[in-house]
Formats: sequence, structure tokens, C-alpha cells
Amino acid sequence: DAGRQVVIEEKLSGREVSLLALVDGEHLTPLPPACDYKPVGEGNTGPNTGGMGGYTPPEFFSFYEAAHTAATIMQPVVDELRRRGLPFCGVLYAGLMLTAAGPKVLEFNARFGDPEAQVILPCLDVDLLDLLYATATNGLAGIKLPPPTRAAVNVVLAAENYPGPPVTGDVIHGLDAVPPDVLVFHAGTQRVGDRILTAGGRVLHVVGVGSSVEQARERAYQGVEAITFRGRHYRR
Ligand code: GLY
Repeated sequence: DAGRQVVIEEKLSGREVSLLALVDGEHLTPLPPACDYKPVGEGNTGPNTGGMGGYTPPEFFSFYEAAHTAATIMQPVVDELRRRGLPFCGVLYAGLMLTAAGPKVLEFNARFGDPEAQVILPCLDVDLLDLLYATATNGLAGIKLPPPTRAAVNVVLAAENYPGPPVTGDVIHGLDAVPPDVLVFHAGTQRVGDRILTAGGRVLHVVGVGSSVEQARERAYQGVEAITFRGRHYRR
């Protein structure tokens, strides 16, 4: 049914970036920007997925550019919603294309991005609970995050046949062999007895954090190499 109507839009060329901001109904606090990788295959080939991985910070979009973009593109949305009596409180996610004519909005979502959240949140130098409390209680005025001092890389381990209907029920090995400084977020898994099985298309997000993207990437792939399951695939 979704294909009955086709909408033709302007083609936008450039780099794509995700900018998330906390919004308390009136004020916004931008989070560090991040990038994700949508196509399933190496070299951005194959069908699109929900995201095969991501990283922060983007080398082509600074924290300061992000703050400026949030003020000029996202704040007007927050203001207009408030003017209409529909104040928005939560996470506002802008998918942006950075074109030669400036940033253009591809989409807005009212939620954390995935796999962006898994790289943004570990790089915050402030307490997330304090930020979320301020978001929920109209307390974001004047709250500006310091520029992040860390980088993070997220590699998604996907199930066989994903992004088609995934094969599930495979035993995941090696979760206890992941280096201690690597974060593993469970996305499509299920505990059965003392085993963890695959239970969805994107099974695990394996995240390395470091002082540079290179270091974070190296750590993420150390985690990736420790974890195995039948049909596992990921991007390099
Ligand atoms: N990373 C894309 C999304 O969360 O929509």
C-alpha cells in the first residue's frame, strides 16, 4: 500500500549527518552529531537497512556547526510547535544533508536515532539522567554541553538474510570474551536458559570508545571479532 503513491522530491547531494537535540518544550540542547551507514554491504552497496553502524564525531561537521544548525533549523520547529499549542518535549532527531547550499532536512524523528544513540550517549561528559530530567521539567535553558572529548564507533552484527526476513534462533558465542572497554548493546537477542540467541535482524551493536575515531574503530572491531554466530554479517 505504501507504494501506491509516489512522491518526487528534489535530489540532494552531499554528506548525510544525524543531529539529535533534547527539547524541553521551549529550549533545545544539541547532542554531538553522528553518522550512520544505511546500506547493508561494503562500499555502501545493497539494500538499505535501519543502520549497519555509525560514528561520532563526523570529521566534516563540528560540534559548533551542529549547534549553529540546531539553532537555525531545529529551534524554529520547536518554536512553531509551541506557538500552535503543541509543545514538544523529548528527543528531536534531524536527518540532514549537508549540501553546497547549506544543511537541508531529510527527515525529523521524535526519538533517539539508532545506531546513533549507541555512539552519542557514551561520549557525553555529563550525566544523562540530569539531562533527561531537565528535558522533562522545562529545565534546559542555558544548558550547553561541552564539546565532546571522545569518539565512538558502532558496528552492527546482523543476522543472516537481514535486511530481508532474518534467520533467528542462532546461538551467540563470545559475549564474555569482548574486551572490557567495548560496549555491547543487545538489539535482537533473546535469553533462553543460559544461552543468548539471535532474535532479530540487527542483533548486537558493538561500540568502541576512544580518544579518536581510529582508536574507537580499532576497539569496536576487537569486540566484533570476539563475537560469533551462524550467518553473522557486518560492515568493515
Ligand atoms: N539511524 C536512522 C534512524 O534512527 O532513523
